[in-house]
Amino acid sequence: MNGEQVFADTIAKDQRVEPRDWMPDGYRKTMIRQIAQHAHSEIIGMQPEGEWITRAPSLRRKAILLAKVQDEAGHGLYLYSAAETLGADRGDLTRRLIEGRQKYSSIFNYPTLSFADVGVIGWLVDGAAICNQVPLCRSSYGPYGRAMIRICKEESFHQRQGYELLMTMMGGTPQQREMVQDAVNRWWWPSLMMFGPPDDQSPNSAQSMAWKIKRHSNDELRQRFVDMSVPQAEALGVTLPDPELTWNAERGHYDFGTPDWDELKRVISGDGPCNSLRIENRRRADEDGAWVREAAAAHAAKKAGVAA
Ligand code: 3HC
Repeated sequence: MNGEQVFADTIAKDQRVEPRDWMPDGYRKTMIRQIAQHAHSEIIGMQPEGEWITRAPSLRRKAILLAKVQDEAGHGLYLYSAAETLGADRGDLTRRLIEGRQKYSSIFNYPTLSFADVGVIGWLVDGAAICNQVPLCRSSYGPYGRAMIRICKEESFHQRQGYELLMTMMGGTPQQREMVQDAVNRWWWPSLMMFGPPDDQSPNSAQSMAWKIKRHSNDELRQRFVDMSVPQAEALGVTLPDPELTWNAERGHYDFGTPDWDELKRVISGDGPCNSLRIENRRRADEDGAWVREAAAAHAAKKAGVAA
């Protein structure tokens, strides 16, 4: 069998495509696209919660938040490394992000206005990430699927710590309960948008599902997330800001309203509340860190020189 037949056979048998295997250029291109944007999302995602590390209300909350933000950096590292196995260059990917030639998740372009946002991000945003990323553990590209296994384990800590924080606040003062409800009102719809546009407006889904990169469609995973979140919201004692949210016994799922797809388009195209701040911070961090990368490269070259 030639490369093309081996690739098709691998996908048909639900086996893994590995870095040294032949793969269609389109497969390599879309894998680099998805993995790079996922990595960018993890790194940019450090910013919204990172803003609260110095303002955490206790040492325990600070330590938990530090661990979580540090995890996101690690997730970015695993994913950039997975992208490199496809021939991508990490420096080039960072430039594409900073120059707006590659995307990152829309969700990280919203402001974190109170400490309750840290809990809601853990509960809803990391909860949505779990819904989206668990199926990616079975993605056909080996390094990506394997990176997902550890990332998902850490995401479940992220989700639990957020929910526990909210349970504590909901057991607190009326002001704390109001802070939680306000944060839920602001983060619910952007969390639904994390799953991408509706299936009939998703240009990549058909091919990504044929190549078993994606195992479920955007709408399927969004529905799974809503079904998971409604009982959690009830247990927490908050209301979700969607008057159309109701259990549909026939479907066996919750019916819910329509996200504002124009808002998603605006935020993806750079016109969200925090887009320029997030990219400016990323650009500055990249510039400030240039000397570390240069020193590490010089040291490696010197060591290699010594070895030769
Ligand atoms: N934010 C930004 N861009 C988005 C988006 C979103 N919420 N949803 C879709 N897009 C972009 C897509 O990237 C694509 O643009 P491109 O072709 O230039 O890449 C376009 O909108 C059309 O969307 P499609 O549905 O056709 O694209 P995909 O098939 O790639 O599906 C996706 C989008 C569901 C995000 C898929 O790429 C995916 O599952 N990616 C891996 C997971 C991921 O990146 N999650 C982001 C959150 S990171 C995170 O959860 C960190 C955690 O710690 C919180």
